[in-house]
Amino acid sequence: MNTLVKSLYGLRDWVDSRYPLMKTWNEHLAKYYAPKNFNFWYFFGGLALLVLVIQIVTGIWLTMNYKPSADMAFASVEYIMRDVDWGWLIRYMHSSGASFFFIVVYLHMYRAMLYGSYKKPRELLWIFGMLIYLTLMAEAFFGYLLPWGQMSYWGAQVIISLFGAIPFIGDELALFIRGDFVVSDVTLNRFFSFHVIAIPLVICGLVAAHIISLHEVGSNNPDGVEIKANKDANGVPLDGIPFHPYYTVKDMVGAVVFLILFCAVVFFAPEMGGYFLEHANFVPADPLKTPEHIAPVWYFTPFYAILRAIPDKLGGVVAMGLSTTIFFLLPWLDRSPVKSIRYRGWKYRSWLAAFTVSFIALGWLGMQVATPAYTWLARFFSVVYFLFFLLMPFYTSNDNDKPVPERVTS
Ligand code: HEM
Repeated sequence: MNTLVKSLYGLRDWVDSRYPLMKTWNEHLAKYYAPKNFNFWYFFGGLALLVLVIQIVTGIWLTMNYKPSADMAFASVEYIMRDVDWGWLIRYMHSSGASFFFIVVYLHMYRAMLYGSYKKPRELLWIFGMLIYLTLMAEAFFGYLLPWGQMSYWGAQVIISLFGAIPFIGDELALFIRGDFVVSDVTLNRFFSFHVIAIPLVICGLVAAHIISLHEVGSNNPDGVEIKANKDANGVPLDGIPFHPYYTVKDMVGAVVFLILFCAVVFFAPEMGGYFLEHANFVPADPLKTPEHIAPVWYFTPFYAILRAIPDKLGGVVAMGLSTTIFFLLPWLDRSPVKSIRYRGWKYRSWLAAFTVSFIALGWLGMQVATPAYTWLARFFSVVYFLFFLLMPFYTSNDNDKPVPERVTS
């Protein structure tokens, strides 16, 4: 062993006798036994971590040149795009990163619905995930006001005014959130402080809790079999393999593929035809001129379609709130003894398919100008969306599930 390696080991031991370095490494990587049958769907948790890091790093660099004031915000973003060295790249990475974050998180959540990963003993892990999701929505909403374009301004105006529908306290609450009678410089300042520090801190804390909770109970897998039920004489799960090096290497492959797609968008289609950066946001905010068609960015549109589908304002706000929070209840609504879709009966499969179609259809409808025909379609899909959850205790408790194998199958 040469002297350099010896001294590095010495340094490690010095730290290790003062801090649980190797213990943490072993518990979370080298001796964290993950099921050996992870598939494509298991890339997205790690990818969500990668996007979180991209957003934080690019966000710090954007903040160095961005000015959170109604007079200068729009111009400072233009300055970043045109004059700051590599500013365009950092800005496009951040704006595309927001959409990629939601793509990755939606696929990550959908995986949990395919394999029943929210079921016992992973309920708390799921709750932490849901809290991350809601906080992420708040982060995206606050961030969207910052470029101070037309859609930033009017989008915030519409969403904040929804709070006005709450009986008794609504108007006061909307005023409290805006800090003014209209969206203004005051609103921009507070949204900036929430976007750059308050919410990211909460997200990082929740992600830590999410992963600690995952490592406490262990990962689920595409067969929905608990690998801890079959251990060898040393207490190592027979169907488990150490996370490091097996999955660290495998996840790197996923990260490379992801980065290729990410770079393709950042370099060749950063606006993504108006889906990632809306065209109206290239026009500075004008409090005197409402855009003809106000629509949120794609990741909010399923819920926006539900809001618009209900004629009563308060009813719409309640339905929209429920459509995002009802996922919290999944561990208790799902009564099936089976976790994975591989062994579920036709009822759950059909309802999940109907829910998937509804979610995508609502997402599309939320981007369109609301015509009477579209409004009725949105009503239909909203009903299917909610029935998926409300009927779940019934169709999952008497489905024709298949026998689940004792050990993982591949
Ligand atoms: C910043 C956002 C998030 C990050 C960084 C993150 C990170 C992770 C990681 C690294 C894993 C393990 C790898 C994997 O199973 O893919 C995981 C598992 C999991 N996550 Fe997340 N997650 C995030 C958001 C969410 C959300 C929004 C939900 C659900 C509402 C969620 C639910 C779950 C569940 C149920 C598992 C266990 C899956 C299984 O073992 O089958 N996560 N997460």
